[in-house]
Amino acid sequence: MKGRVFSGMRPSGRLHIGNYLGALQNWVALQEEYQCVYCAVDVHALTTVQGEATKEIRSDIREMVLDWLAAGIDPQRSILFVQSHVPEVMVLHTLLSMVTPLGWLLRVPTFKERVRQMHETEEAVSYGLVGYPVLMTADIILYKADTVPVGEDQLPHLELAREIVRRFNHIYGPTFPEPQPKLTQAPLIIGLDGQNKMSKSLDNQVELAATEEETRQRVMQAFTDPQRIRRTDPGRPWVCNVYSLHKHFNPDKLDWVYEGCTKATLGCVEDKRLLAEGINCALAPFRERRRELEAKPGLVDEVLRDGASRAQEIARKTLSEAMERMGLR
Ligand code: TRP
Repeated sequence: MKGRVFSGMRPSGRLHIGNYLGALQNWVALQEEYQCVYCAVDVHALTTVQGEATKEIRSDIREMVLDWLAAGIDPQRSILFVQSHVPEVMVLHTLLSMVTPLGWLLRVPTFKERVRQMHETEEAVSYGLVGYPVLMTADIILYKADTVPVGEDQLPHLELAREIVRRFNHIYGPTFPEPQPKLTQAPLIIGLDGQNKMSKSLDNQVELAATEEETRQRVMQAFTDPQRIRRTDPGRPWVCNVYSLHKHFNPDKLDWVYEGCTKATLGCVEDKRLLAEGINCALAPFRERRRELEAKPGLVDEVLRDGASRAQEIARKTLSEAMERMGLR
């Protein structure tokens, strides 16, 4: 029997090439070997999004799911759904919170980091934020998934999920499989600022769904080797992020670019033009599919409705099993 994959993504709107190379591409490939359940985690989004800003969540989900579909996530083979559409996860979260020591949650490094980023104290952050990994555990085990593709940053959460599962199974008898992380050899994609990981919040991204012209304009603003000031200065491709991006979008021109850059026969402007072309060329089929999908009214809603109903069928069974184990049924 095929194993089951679960993974979640926060609804961040249109995805960028870093999301694609880091996660989405891998999600697509896993469909060959696993029964996959992919979730837009809107409840998790509420740990950091509040008030007016929550009005964007629904359109962010739509944009993200269009990217999933255009990239090749197949809604027939896989289950695609929105976390809050299967509210059983919030019930399981509450049940799991009863077997999760608070100390485990306070020690999670991503929690400490978040608290710092939010300029808050541990006392002031929401109860929901502390429970973030418990909700994530509920996501995974509600579907009894055994395999969870994640980036390195999520490993502490997965470790905690396994601990919660072990503890539940120890107290109430074997109920859930221990989920295994599947580390995807995700290349670190640096954004156009040449310094930070590509991310929407830093506005240093190239969106998958951008037009060719938008792509050109953004790539032309990218930072290259800061020490290459005049056109005649030789560049250092090994410190240049545009060069790193060529590895993904112009693999056949790498040697030529390297030589041109180090010998100053290729200027940064031409170099970036070449990168924009490479990106546009690689993404052309994706963009074409996305336009077709966008034009079908109701498509995303229909996919998500169907996904939620298939997910809920599994969720209900698992939840009643957990409630029974815990003496509630
Ligand atoms: N926390 C994950 C992230 O920020 C998203 C997520 C939520 C997730 N639930 C999950 C990932 C379950 C894997 C499995 O990227």
